[in-house]
Amino acid sequence: MIDSIVKHVDAARLEQRLAKLYELGHEPGHRGAMRLAFSAADRRGRDYVLDLMRQAGISPRIDQVGNLIGVLRGSKPKAASLILGSHLDTVPQGGKFDGALGVLGGLEVVEAMQAAGYEPAHPIEVIAFSNEEKARFTTGFGGSLAMVCGIKPGDLEGVVDGRGVTLVEAMKSCGLDPELVSKARRPSGFCRAYLELHVEQGGRMLKSGEQVGVVTAIVGISRAHLTFKGRANHAGTTMMEDRSDALWAAAEMVRKVREAAVASQGGLVGTVGILRVLPGAANVVPGEASLTIELRSADEALKSQTLDDLLTQAGSLAERWHLELTSSVNRPGGSVPLDQTVQSTIAESAQELGIPHRRIHSWAGHDASVFAPVAPTGMLFVPSQAGISHSPDEYTHQEDVLAGVRVLAATVARLDRLYAGGTVAD
Ligand code: HGY
Ligand code: MN
Ligand code: MN
Repeated sequence: MIDSIVKHVDAARLEQRLAKLYELGHEPGHRGAMRLAFSAADRRGRDYVLDLMRQAGISPRIDQVGNLIGVLRGSKPKAASLILGSHLDTVPQGGKFDGALGVLGGLEVVEAMQAAGYEPAHPIEVIAFSNEEKARFTTGFGGSLAMVCGIKPGDLEGVVDGRGVTLVEAMKSCGLDPELVSKARRPSGFCRAYLELHVEQGGRMLKSGEQVGVVTAIVGISRAHLTFKGRANHAGTTMMEDRSDALWAAAEMVRKVREAAVASQGGLVGTVGILRVLPGAANVVPGEASLTIELRSADEALKSQTLDDLLTQAGSLAERWHLELTSSVNRPGGSVPLDQTVQSTIAESAQELGIPHRRIHSWAGHDASVFAPVAPTGMLFVPSQAGISHSPDEYTHQEDVLAGVRVLAATVARLDRLYAGGTVAD
């Protein structure tokens, strides 16, 4: 039966859908996908996938935080679900595969099961989580967190994008009622296992030559948002000793983040992806400068200590240049290990299909890290050409996409039988 499911995976159909979804994310004046969370482009993409799910007969619904959920009923309708998830939102000028592959690949698995006449024991859900990237609303909730852990309307307060649009307004523009977000939470035990297919977004698999990566753990990510406030003033008439230039401190922090990460010799990566200078005129001394610091590491102690050091240094810089410093920090924790049984089932599936595979640690964050503490969770990667992601140049060969979806299909069928007490041969 597994062979038949795998044979029904339709690479051309998946390729065409990935291309269509990517096109729906285009915005004038930008390259790549602009499906920023709760934007018009995000909504176009979600509506497209909702329609595909409807055509596949898996009765899609959108929950109170914008997660899109389709369900293939199983022979044991009351059983907990096997969930195939990822996200449809992208970073600005994002790629064709990040997130999209996991959602459309999961839908492909369900349609291959239907075509093969396979009735699963467990309900199989395909879910596109909202706001996974947190690229537009950097301190906003993720749809997977709202589903697994629950959030409250108060969690949305003060969350604003770079143009001053609040998360509440953006959610309302997508037809959501922010007052109802806590209803997105699902009862504990709703998920029997969670699987996510994703592009590697780096170049390690290219170097070692495998088509599928069995993910062992997902990196811990900490973020801090710093705002330095000085005094805007005339760029010509204000002598250097009289300045209270907010950018002096922010610029120093950019250097310190890089130096701390380089000094860790690969133990940690650090990024300042957002730097805003106000009022932003060539002839005005910057009165305000804000930046995001993002640190990632498999070593939680190193990451935590480095962030503490950087925050201390930010305080000293503010003092030195008579600036006011405000900061908000988000340190959700360390690396998240993934389930051993799920890992070995992915590896067995790849082995059976003759697909070269390896274990690999994820330096990217994923919705899977929200599920790992509450359900057996696994991820599988396919290679990113040139190791590029979060860019319009993100690319994965069709044969690698096909290999990944086939392994995903075989793994889901195996787990379905395993958890239902049957054997793989059934
Ligand atoms: O940023 C990440 O690691 C993921 O792509 N959201
Ligand atoms: Mn992603
Ligand atoms: Mn991403």
